[in-house]
Amino acid sequence: MDKIFKRTNMCGELRKEDIGKEVVLNGWVQVKRNLGGLTFVDLRDKTGITQIAFGDDIQELANTLGREYCIGVKGIVVERESKNDKLPTGFIEVKAHDLVIYSEADTPPIYIKDDDNVSGDLKLKYRYLDLRKPIMQDTLAFRSKMYNVIRNFYFENGFTEVETPVLGKPTPEGARDYLVPSRVNPGKFYALPQSPQIFKQLLMVSGTDRYIQIAKCFRDEDLRADRQPEFTQIDMELSFVEQEDILSIQEQFLKTLFKEMRGIDIQLPLPRLTWDEAMNKYGSDKPDLRFGFELHDLADVVKDSEFGVFTDALKDGGKVMGIDITGASANFSRKDIDKMTEAIKSFGAKGLVWIRYEENEIKSSVSKFFDQDALKKIGEVFGAKTGDLVLICSGKKEVVWASLGFLRRDLAGKLGLLNPDDFKLLWVVDFPMFEWSDEENRYMAMHHPFTSPKKEHIHYLETGELDKIYADAYDIVINGYEAGGGSIRIHDRKLQKKIFEVLQLTEEDIKTRFGFFIEAFSYGAPPHGGLAYGMDRLCMLLLGTDDIRRVIAFPKNQNAQCVMSDAPTVVDEKDLKILSVKTDIAE
Ligand code: AMO
Repeated sequence: MDKIFKRTNMCGELRKEDIGKEVVLNGWVQVKRNLGGLTFVDLRDKTGITQIAFGDDIQELANTLGREYCIGVKGIVVERESKNDKLPTGFIEVKAHDLVIYSEADTPPIYIKDDDNVSGDLKLKYRYLDLRKPIMQDTLAFRSKMYNVIRNFYFENGFTEVETPVLGKPTPEGARDYLVPSRVNPGKFYALPQSPQIFKQLLMVSGTDRYIQIAKCFRDEDLRADRQPEFTQIDMELSFVEQEDILSIQEQFLKTLFKEMRGIDIQLPLPRLTWDEAMNKYGSDKPDLRFGFELHDLADVVKDSEFGVFTDALKDGGKVMGIDITGASANFSRKDIDKMTEAIKSFGAKGLVWIRYEENEIKSSVSKFFDQDALKKIGEVFGAKTGDLVLICSGKKEVVWASLGFLRRDLAGKLGLLNPDDFKLLWVVDFPMFEWSDEENRYMAMHHPFTSPKKEHIHYLETGELDKIYADAYDIVINGYEAGGGSIRIHDRKLQKKIFEVLQLTEEDIKTRFGFFIEAFSYGAPPHGGLAYGMDRLCMLLLGTDDIRRVIAFPKNQNAQCVMSDAPTVVDEKDLKILSVKTDIAE
């Protein structure tokens, strides 16, 4: 190969108006066909496909082409004999008179078509081939445009983009840190940032006033469809602001983003729910508002019943709550309900009570304890009608919320109610400051320890009534996903110290882990607050997919591995020695 054809057009561009033009295209062979003594090739690049017809003079060479050969062609645009309405270029073809083969290709291990069904790991192993698909190239372009929209918006609003270090100190409460050994400091480790939290607050102390960064973050957590170990945040922080100022600028941003990326007009102001409201109404702090099925408290109608499971739960301070799957009783069999019961066991639920409101009778798994009148009364709480299925869960409130919150969304999915083109955004505000961790046997910060408790709740720090303390913390929720979150920060170092104490960090801990941070606050820290969006999640939501891997060029699989390059990998003993690291994994 000694020449590169300088292309005149991309493969998705040519139309009727181009007929008669001499063109040059470069791309990959999607398919080759031999028809009526002629050789045809569908030539593909990131913009689409053009059909190429090879004339007699170069047919011999054209016949050697195979799938995914990388080639260049010169030819004339002509009207196609059999048009293809499905292809934007389907009216024309290029009658080629010159061909160059840049690279031959082995038979590709995956089909490069938008509608293939190759398993996840195989696609990830050959990600560079998977990315050849127009849909994947469109995704990369979509994400690239997003960076632009984000930067334009925040620059216009006075934000400065600052890169913060990737080699840092283990982050607060950072059991999920990725650690990096330092060769020149034997026995010492950096941590990759779970977020740029500390640095962005220090930038506020520095007077940067409004900071933004599109930042890589790393968390060694168990993975789910919406989580990656390495992900991107749109991270920001602002000085001299209150919660309202932050939410209002974010609403403007989200409006711009949805308009520019999808042409969708988001109505402002966005609805808000407090954390308590969200949990009690939807069983989740990231409720999906595209459908109803709200939770209802049944304590009043069941408290005097004979059914010990319910009455005991109430006596123990727990809850009895239910959801009404409107009009869908017939959609779920007894077996389906058994499966639901099994599924919610993972949240600690002991069982699931069902009631079917049928034409002449109300059927229920607890009809032994509730007569028709009592079942009717329960139905009235929901406004249940014939054809409805009511599902009830009892126990500790966290278990009831998690179980019904899960069922609500799961069943909506099964009923086809999750329209990806319908966007329901909301703020969830007033999160509890602390949550109890059974694992750690102590209170943990629900957001992070730099979050400011509500002013009117600070006195509970003295009385130790930590459950009563709520925070100036907020999440932006889109269609059941936490798309971002943030808070107003503590800028009073005495209060910060007190919070660390409540989190049972020793004086020594505080000093070694955050000494520099607390010290910074003694030199005139401005009031400040911020937020970070999950960039990948936002991109995924805007594209209407529920797999975060779709929107990341080279993602990890469910085991946090890059199956293409085989990372992470075992390191030679001698390299470990240089880093002063020993492992105790048997060969
Ligand atoms: P938080 O931990 O809520 O806040 O993270 C902010 C947003 O980042 C996204 N996100 C993730 N996306 C993909 N994979 C993951 N493993 C992952 N983890 C989080 C979510 C989430 O809402 N420093 C604070 C922000 C602040 O207070 O300003 C922070 O990191 O969309």
